[in-house]
Amino acid sequence: MTQQMNRREFLALASAAVIPASRQVHQLAAPPDFETELPIPPVLAPVKSDLTTDYYEVTQREAWTEIVSGIRTKIRGYNGSFPGPTIKAHRGRRTVVAHTNHLTISTVVHLHGGVTKPDSDGFPTDTIPPGESRRYEYGNSGRAATLWYHDHSWRDSGRNLHMGLAGFYLLEDPNDDTPLPREQYDVPLMLQDRSFTSDGELDYDHQRHHGATGNVMLVNGAPWPVLKVAARKYRFRILNASNATAVALSLSSHQPFVQIATDQGLLRAPVSLPMMRLAMAERVEVVIDFSAYPIGTRIVLQNRRGRGRLSRVMCFDVVRKERDDSFVPASLAQSETLRSSEAVRTRTFVFGGRPTLGLPPGVRWVINGEAFDPGRVDADPRLGDVEIWRFVSRGFLGRAMLHPVHTHLVPFQILTRNGQPPRAEERGWKDTVAVDRDEVVDVILRWSGYRGRYLLHCHNLEHEDHSMMARVDVI
Ligand code: C2O
Ligand code: CU
Repeated sequence: MTQQMNRREFLALASAAVIPASRQVHQLAAPPDFETELPIPPVLAPVKSDLTTDYYEVTQREAWTEIVSGIRTKIRGYNGSFPGPTIKAHRGRRTVVAHTNHLTISTVVHLHGGVTKPDSDGFPTDTIPPGESRRYEYGNSGRAATLWYHDHSWRDSGRNLHMGLAGFYLLEDPNDDTPLPREQYDVPLMLQDRSFTSDGELDYDHQRHHGATGNVMLVNGAPWPVLKVAARKYRFRILNASNATAVALSLSSHQPFVQIATDQGLLRAPVSLPMMRLAMAERVEVVIDFSAYPIGTRIVLQNRRGRGRLSRVMCFDVVRKERDDSFVPASLAQSETLRSSEAVRTRTFVFGGRPTLGLPPGVRWVINGEAFDPGRVDADPRLGDVEIWRFVSRGFLGRAMLHPVHTHLVPFQILTRNGQPPRAEERGWKDTVAVDRDEVVDVILRWSGYRGRYLLHCHNLEHEDHSMMARVDVI
């Protein structure tokens, strides 16, 4: 297909932008053409390294990029790219990232999933004003896992992530001797749906704080890309970095995924899974073995929650044979199980909406009835304590609302989902858990790492901004 046709098709699609996204997707029945090659975000090189620490510099700036071929789109990017560069960190080795803000707005950087000192964790009011810099220090004491860094500005994180302020942060274990696929066979995939205006600008429409959804699916910043693969095993680190869209992934070939990790690293044992649910900010790592497919086979990564065009994410074209020594061992990692008998208390957090005054009435997204107040402490766990946190999702005005609940500083294990044991694929360490309408999810966590000011919030970014966050002080 020519660039010209691509552009026309894109504009036709984008001009439907005045129709609410939920109805729009029905009109976008044409299948995506999987033309763009999957971009892999470049790994950032440290500006300096010493015995203990790697130092990085990142500039936050606007840039023009070609997300859709032939069309220039203005973004806000780390080093001007969408997504930002990947930072590779090593357990036990410190990372210092100096961010310089060359945007016209204040920003905040959060390392999602990191065990981070409070002054480097990106509390929403700890801003970097335009023209200034801030040093973020990461101790990298957590488990090896697929983390990500992104903007966390209060009331603006939705727009800032929508425009591109997100990147991978891969925390690796220097002693990792697993036989899993590595190097070019270990591929991060950042999924984001986006809408565009008819002139190619990113169109941030949060639908009165219900959440910004899109009509184009991007992977690593490219619409419906293709990855040419060898007929062998690959490890994929999949992050749903959408503002407000949950996905449920499957392969068009009906081959199940072999899931090896959750948000916070390797599972004890692999789980075979025909469909993988991924709420906003959740990560999953899978191995897909392409060795059974003849050269020339195309396998589509599908989204069972998406309609029309959005029911497809990207595709894999099997283009060559290759030898493969990698495999998925039956036992992946050791890890401790936290027991409810260790917990010293249970705290309950109800995620729901509150109508706002005005016509038409809007919604304020709140936790336990309260909007975020950076000066109010909503929970004060003691360092070292094990606690059970109960997350409850309440429907609001008849709308089914999924709240992906995220804790800063410490990961958790799911004890129960609606009174039942968690699904096999959720039985690892996590930092974000999907709590769907009327669901009750109990998680268990041990407060460790640091004392200080942290957060609990919903990772629907528009809920988070307005104002579904709670301040957590570890004392
Ligand atoms: Cu991914 Cu508090 O954030
Ligand atoms: Cu929410």
